[in-house]
Amino acid sequence: MVSLSSVMLSFVKGIQKSKVSLLGAFITTVTFPVLVGAIILDMLGYVTNTYYGFFIYMILGPAFIFGLVLVFAGLFFFKGSREVQIFTIEYLQDQVSDPVRFSRVKKLIVLGVALTIVNISVVSLLAYSGYHYMESNEFCGQFCHTVMNPEYTTHKNSQHSNVHCVECHIGSGAAWFAKSKLSGTRQIIAVALDTYPRPIHTPVHGLRPAGETCEACHRPELFHGDKLVIREHTLDDESNSKVNTVLMMKVGSAGDRAVSSHGIHWHVSPEHKVTYVSDLSREIVPEVTLTLADGTQKVFRSGVKIESGKTETRTMDCIDCHNRPAHIYLSDLEAIDLKFEEGKIPRDLPFIKREALKAVNKSYKTLAAAKSGIAADLQAFYQQNYPEVLKEKQAQLVQAIAGVQAAYSENVFPDMNIGWGNYTSQLQHGADFDKGCFRCHGGEHATESGEVISSDCNICHSILAEGEKDPAILKTLRGE
Ligand code: HEC
Ligand code: HEC
Ligand code: HEC
Ligand code: HEC
Ligand code: HEC
Repeated sequence: MVSLSSVMLSFVKGIQKSKVSLLGAFITTVTFPVLVGAIILDMLGYVTNTYYGFFIYMILGPAFIFGLVLVFAGLFFFKGSREVQIFTIEYLQDQVSDPVRFSRVKKLIVLGVALTIVNISVVSLLAYSGYHYMESNEFCGQFCHTVMNPEYTTHKNSQHSNVHCVECHIGSGAAWFAKSKLSGTRQIIAVALDTYPRPIHTPVHGLRPAGETCEACHRPELFHGDKLVIREHTLDDESNSKVNTVLMMKVGSAGDRAVSSHGIHWHVSPEHKVTYVSDLSREIVPEVTLTLADGTQKVFRSGVKIESGKTETRTMDCIDCHNRPAHIYLSDLEAIDLKFEEGKIPRDLPFIKREALKAVNKSYKTLAAAKSGIAADLQAFYQQNYPEVLKEKQAQLVQAIAGVQAAYSENVFPDMNIGWGNYTSQLQHGADFDKGCFRCHGGEHATESGEVISSDCNICHSILAEGEKDPAILKTLRGE
């Protein structure tokens, strides 16, 4: 006959006997109050520090669960097991089937159930808040600060700054979550051992298909009509003249009930499939295959050869063109032009465009060195050539220096070896018509029967003005 108190006693004794259980009990007792307090503070939003989240969910939480596991492992598998032998199935059956005995162990069962509920709640709370923590932009972008700083900064400056990292990189669903945590663990080890590449490699070969991420929010099959694009540029003459290029982009549609696929988004229509073979950087495309709905295929080849084993075959989706929806690294020209457009660099400083471009193109080891170098170069230029600027336009010069420094710091990250043009956008063709769309549309890709992927300027856009000061088309559009 075993009484309730002796059951309790043997449980406690079991724990005492086993060093493993004792250690476990110690860990759970110490972590429990800290953990509950910390999670509540986190949920109420009192703490925003990334390292604090890491401490709760990646260290304290697992420690608590580890403690629980140790307690039971000690009781059932190590020294404690002798003391709790009374918890055999026969013993429990005996207790439950006899009403007198049952009433005696009832309290123990209630206690056991209550403790289990508390443990399960803490573990679920941990899992729930930990999951949200790991999905946050702060965890993705700031935890490994130097490593992710460029992506975090460019994301913050993009149209997608309100879209969480995980919405494009992982998407929903447990399988992708698990997959990303596996590669995440590999990445944390790489950071700890300092073996990660600088800059981080792109393209991201394991990215979830865009159909499951981008298309959760955008539906190119429902696009209608074209898009007017007005680009503002600044020339490198003395007066930093402003010119405009105006394009009508034939955005088109991926085709839906009423319209058939046409224009630029023709590529992502379900009616046909464009696949291509490229090198691993996806910059060189020797072969493009178009498969129509009826199964007929056209294969376009450029004649360029790539070593076998160093190629990749992909079905074209959004990110083959929109590879920089969130991490937009501008070129030196675009970055400086944008600062003029935003009014951050005053146009009335002679040759400021030309000098700014020179200053941002020197090589610097750190951001701090770049900032002081840019300031010193611009000061020196005006000192030597336009001393009156220093006297009369000191405020504008200070503003211009800040603008040029910002153009640099938003796009160049010396810590990660990211210079101008390291990461390029495919949503263009470059001034030399050799990049982006022209990986396939350069006029070199032909079928055996001689059909060529078009490089006709008008299939993608009509050019309404190019590099003009106050173009007539803009006057018309403004109603002047
Ligand atoms: C709107 C979608 C989107 C969001 C939001 C987004 N990314 Fe990306 N990210 C991409 C795409 C697309 C690529 C490039 C994939 C390619 O070219 O293979 C990329 C590439 C990267 C790369 C590889 C380096 C590079 O620039 O190509 C890293 C690292 C990265 N993202 C981290 C992040 C982090 C951290 C966040 C959140 C702060 C984030 N991303 C938010 C879409 C997104
Ligand atoms: C969670 C929703 C969401 C996801 C996922 C998403 N986007 Fe967006 N995207 C938006 C919103 C909202 C805007 C408009 C932002 C604004 O202009 O203020 C936008 C803007 C854009 C634009 C600019 C449109 C314009 O008028 O210039 C492009 C291009 C784009 N997204 C492409 C993508 C691509 C490619 C992906 C996948 C890699 C993607 N988006 C994923 C919500 C999303
Ligand atoms: C063949 C290249 C290509 C592919 C593939 C592609 N796009 Fe685009 N997309 C473009 C171009 C070019 C533009 C016009 C951009 C500009 O000049 O502003 C554009 C414009 C857009 C816009 C803005 C439309 C508007 O009218 O303002 C969105 C949103 C967009 N794309 C989303 C997507 C999504 C989502 C996918 C994948 C389903 C996709 N695109 C696939 C090239 C492409
Ligand atoms: C991976 C190769 C590839 C890339 C990259 C690519 N295209 Fe295409 N594009 C094709 C193929 C293949 C066709 C169909 C050619 C044919 O049938 O003659 C096509 C056709 C087109 C068409 C005509 C669609 C129609 O209505 O028939 C437009 C417009 C177009 N592309 C725009 C673009 C733009 C803009 C970009 C860059 C943002 C781009 N393409 C990038 C392969 C590509
Ligand atoms: C396969 C599609 C495609 C073809 C063919 C094409 N372009 Fe473009 N072009 C683009 C895209 C995409 C952009 C980027 C639009 C943007 O900046 O929003 C662009 C931009 C431009 C710009 C504006 C650059 C700027 O920022 O000021 C000019 C000018 C231009 N193209 C000229 C041409 C000329 C000339 C041809 C014929 C030789 C041509 N393009 C053929 C897709 C194409």
